[in-house]
Amino acid sequence: MEPKATPKESPLSKRMDRDVMQNFLKAMPKAEIHLHIEGTLEPEMVFRLAKKNAVALGYKTPEALKEAYNFSNLEDFLKLYYQGLAVLKTKQDFYELAMAYFQKASEENIVRAEVFFDPQAHTSRGVPFASVIEGLLEAAKDAENKLGLSVALILCFLRHLSEQEAFEALKQALPYKKAILGVGLDSSEAGNPPSKFRRVFAKAREEGFLPVAHAGEEGPAGYVREALSELKVLRVDHGVRSEEDPELMEEIKARRIPLSVCPLSNVRLRVFPSLTEHNLKRLLDFGILVTVNSDDPAYFGGYLLENYLQSAEALDMSAWDVSTLAKNSILAAFLPDSEKQRLLKEQDAIASDFL
Ligand code: HPA
Ligand code: ZN
Repeated sequence: MEPKATPKESPLSKRMDRDVMQNFLKAMPKAEIHLHIEGTLEPEMVFRLAKKNAVALGYKTPEALKEAYNFSNLEDFLKLYYQGLAVLKTKQDFYELAMAYFQKASEENIVRAEVFFDPQAHTSRGVPFASVIEGLLEAAKDAENKLGLSVALILCFLRHLSEQEAFEALKQALPYKKAILGVGLDSSEAGNPPSKFRRVFAKAREEGFLPVAHAGEEGPAGYVREALSELKVLRVDHGVRSEEDPELMEEIKARRIPLSVCPLSNVRLRVFPSLTEHNLKRLLDFGILVTVNSDDPAYFGGYLLENYLQSAEALDMSAWDVSTLAKNSILAAFLPDSEKQRLLKEQDAIASDFL
């Protein structure tokens, strides 16, 4: 199952044309495991919902809003991200937001979407938790039935808020616990270490939620260590700064802890100066179970396929590399083993058609 090295004389070791690569990547069934549903809110939808809900915007047109998407860092992005959310008011708004993403995901042949949502960013504005979750759940149900897309929801705690506020969000989620797969941790990383949420994660795990956390995006490798040891996460979101700690890299590799890496996000938020300097391929070559994801595609210039394609091009990846990344996305997903095996077989059949 675990690819060791690129076979030297196989077509897999070759680079592909961009067109062939695009067709290949599109044909491969993929999972997306690091996607904030609020980060799929496109400027056009911001304007449409603002009008419907009588929300005043500081921009005249969707294009003007898009022009403001020039971020210096995570904090800078989060300011606009939270501002944009003000247009989401009703259950129907959340349904439409999610359905638009599911439609796009399905067009890219994403077969499994494990989607983050930030309830505290809505309840703090007076939107009931029920409107958020019920809109998302209805969209998930329609995506499963109409698009054949398998969806899971992961509730993220906002780490710039207090532990007590996270406990309140968890309490609101309990009546829906069968419909929410996991809990995560997002928002401003620096200064808000995973250990701040040790107790709320312990309670969430006890209630059956699967734990993941953003760590090692802007924060240090030590935060990745904490996420593993104190929050007992099953995956690390981003985790790119793990590279600063060789022992941690060995641990992540040995334990097959998936890293959900988001290349375009990392460049837009200046975690790396450019895509050619991104460590995605180094992590892959080291043998870590690394995956490609789009994070907040409405803000970062591309959905999942674009993240794969631009990374493959910038990092001079082979067919073997990108096919390993697509396989890793299935291996890293929270799916039953039998379903993973079925999807991996489907991928192998497609790879042998193309290569
Ligand atoms: N990092 C941290 N928090 C977030 C992000 C991100 O990329 N997107 C939405 N919330
Ligand atoms: Zn994220």
